[in-house]
Amino acid sequence: RGPEGVRPDLTGRHVVISAGGTREPLDPVRFLGNRSTGKQGYALARTAAARGARVTLVSSNSALPDPAGADVVRADSARELREAMVAAAADADAVVMAAAVADFRPATYAPGKIKKKGQEAPAPLELVRNPDILAELAARRARPGQIVVGFAAETDDVLAHGRAKLAAKGCDLLVVNEVGASKTFGSEENEAVVLGADGSETAVPHGPKEGLADRVWDLVAARLAGE
Ligand code: CTP
Ligand code: CA
Repeated sequence: RGPEGVRPDLTGRHVVISAGGTREPLDPVRFLGNRSTGKQGYALARTAAARGARVTLVSSNSALPDPAGADVVRADSARELREAMVAAAADADAVVMAAAVADFRPATYAPGKIKKKGQEAPAPLELVRNPDILAELAARRARPGQIVVGFAAETDDVLAHGRAKLAAKGCDLLVVNEVGASKTFGSEENEAVVLGADGSETAVPHGPKEGLADRVWDLVAARLAGE
């Protein structure tokens, strides 16, 4: 154990984490966004650094302070986040998609501010699909043995939806949260089940986001060690 009582089991490992929520621009002043604060992703970055990892944090619109010892890269939209993640994942031992990525973005970007003048009824907003970053990272595996982790927030039939999502994305681990009106977004605490592609199921009781982060790193470290 290290000086802070933390086992440095990620020493020599490079981990890449996305955090926060993307903003999909409509014009220079407007965007489609979500309520993610970045707390879970930042907790993952802090705990990985404490366990000895080299950490790259790809942060999307979070107001949280940079975690000590992490390289922080900023990405605003889903497409920017994809570029930053693919680049950082090239030499990563593990990649974790904790960011809330917009599934859709406005089909067109207006280079000038959209005016209401002359529009009695507002023009409908046309959307197009964003790339699925997690599925792409899992399919690419920039390095053999690279561990790919996703997050999923589900409302009902949480485990069944989680299993199906894990398989569809092709990742090694999927952290599944049950969400409700006040749960998860912006809160300090979290409760989850971590599903493994090997069929494993690890329940993580309600507690601080650091605790969930450490359980995720336990599972990642075991897989990296070939256990
Ligand atoms: N994700 C991603 N790229 C997207 C959408 C999601 O990388 N375009 C990642 C998220 O960061 C998360 C995981 O995929 O780690 C699951 O996100 P979620 O929104 O639950 O899954 P979706 O596939 O978008 O399915 P849906 O929203 O329809 O439930
Ligand atoms: Ca989604």
